[in-house]
Amino acid sequence: MAMKTKTLILSGTAAIIAAVSGLAYAAGDGGTGDYEMVHKHWHFQGPFGTYDKAAAQRGYQVYREVCSSCHQLQHLSFRHLGDKGAPFYNKAYPNPNDNPLVKNFAADWSIEDVDTETGDIIERPGVPADKFPPIYPNVAAARASNGGGLPPDLSVIVSARGGGADYIHNLLVAYDTPVPEGVELTAGLHYNPVMEGGKIAMAAPLSEGLVEYADGTEATVEQMSTDVTEFLAWSADPKMEVRKSVGFMTMLYLLILAVLLWFSYKRVWRNVEH
Ligand code: HEC
Repeated sequence: MAMKTKTLILSGTAAIIAAVSGLAYAAGDGGTGDYEMVHKHWHFQGPFGTYDKAAAQRGYQVYREVCSSCHQLQHLSFRHLGDKGAPFYNKAYPNPNDNPLVKNFAADWSIEDVDTETGDIIERPGVPADKFPPIYPNVAAARASNGGGLPPDLSVIVSARGGGADYIHNLLVAYDTPVPEGVELTAGLHYNPVMEGGKIAMAAPLSEGLVEYADGTEATVEQMSTDVTEFLAWSADPKMEVRKSVGFMTMLYLLILAVLLWFSYKRVWRNVEH
């Protein structure tokens, strides 16, 4: 092999390695250094990974009963819960607006609307086409209710935080870490070693048995955290399953094409000396 090509390949490989390790660094865990992040194997990881639907369904329950008193899901409408690849997708209802579960979930929320006859602001039950409503009327109200802290929107939080699903899960389960000496907590702040600086304006949202799961799963903190994280991973990337299956079909197509091309190449050059 020519020297030039060799150098080119070597530097190419080096560049790829640098890029990959750079990415891994950028997606680092955050946190206060000495906290050991737990890395879970998530069902949705890998080229063929899918969302664990049962976990994501339980996760929605946790979101609704616990997190939704402070955190919005502004990028989602109720009907998204019943889309293909979503936790409550049902083949019998290809149009999620007809899915009875989705209708029930929507109706469980109160939506601010305008009475078309009087122009008055009214509250009505949600329908699948509605977006998840804001929790607070404005940022000032959100801060006032949370001791100055601002609960971020959770719809894309799994993509927004380095460490992704592992970060969210660790954040939720790390509250029971004893407060180390020298850490001063002012009113409204709680110790959480996963946060930069170890302080967070959110009190531990989960405690043993906080929700009662319809499927009988025991509601430990670990379980609720895993489930709500699975749900939030879906909300951050609702098209993942569709995308992966299209990717797989494309690879299959290219593979078959490559085999056919190989045989036609053989055939075309069959009688030529070479
Ligand atoms: C009583 C209100 C309240 C509830 C309930 C609540 N949170 Fe929070 N959450 C907050 C506040 C306030 C912050 C902002 C904390 C800060 O900036 O220090 C926050 C921050 C967060 C963050 C961002 C942390 C970061 O990296 O900046 C995540 C993730 C989160 N909450 C997830 C959840 C989940 C999941 C639930 C339900 C299991 C939940 N929260 C329940 C108030 C709440």
